[in-house]
Amino acid sequence: MADRYAVIGNPIEHSKSPLIHAAFACQTSQDIEYGCILAPLDGFREAVLGFRNAGGKGLNVTVPFKLEAFRMATRLTLRAQDAEAVNTLKFEGDCILGDNTDGAGLVADIQQNHGGIIANRRVLLLGAGGAARGVIRPLLDRRPASLTLANRSVDKAVSLQRHFGGITVSAYEALPGQTFDIVINATSAGLTDTALPITSDLFSPNVLAYDMVYGRETPFMRKAREQGATVADGLGMLVEQAAESFFIWRGVRPETASVIQQLRG
Ligand code: ATR
Repeated sequence: MADRYAVIGNPIEHSKSPLIHAAFACQTSQDIEYGCILAPLDGFREAVLGFRNAGGKGLNVTVPFKLEAFRMATRLTLRAQDAEAVNTLKFEGDCILGDNTDGAGLVADIQQNHGGIIANRRVLLLGAGGAARGVIRPLLDRRPASLTLANRSVDKAVSLQRHFGGITVSAYEALPGQTFDIVINATSAGLTDTALPITSDLFSPNVLAYDMVYGRETPFMRKAREQGATVADGLGMLVEQAAESFFIWRGVRPETASVIQQLRG
């Protein structure tokens, strides 16, 4: 029988993960089944244990359960500890391994699919919520010239600065006049079509503007595009973080470019 995996979340019906993992499995000739689990908001733990006890080998975890998955794991990778969130579970006997592949996915997408170089570049990260937290260490590991964090509530950015070190904090109002090579939007503002308090001079043709949102053009992307910046959405990150999960489970690294292309098509 094929090894079983799934993505678990609420809602879950629009998840692209089954499509992505089916493509990876086909490409690498791995005999797996990958499904979708809609867990009740108060029933995540039971749903995970039910899947594992029925022989499931691993899960991808999405909104709103990444923190619960973090708490439920019996062993955590360093990057999951840094992120304080888990998007990948692997069941090994009694052990529930929790990992977080989001940051690795972002870095891989920037470097491999958008030709972006993080080393020695000035990077600006917008947002200080869960999405931002998960990518800070992988970005710092690439040794940027600087990593600046801007958030509406500056105290949250300061708290991340204390935790990680090596970060500069800036209020949005202090950004005009500063220059960055890569600007990453890790806020949830784009999901509601809300414009961030950033000015157009943040963007120029030399800037890579990366929004973790995909499937729509956010006000951030629009502003960046109007200034001639290279604009990237989060679809590549989605595929790359899935590839990293697939690697954790199967020990095989799938090729991603064709899958990203397939999803865009
Ligand atoms: P996620 O897990 O997606 O990061 P989150 O933890 O709720 O979600 O964080 C949302 C992030 O988007 C926060 O950084 C939030 O800023 P605050 O910490 O100041 O709330 C940011 N955000 C959401 N809407 C925003 C808006 N309209 N303008 C600026 N920042 C916004």
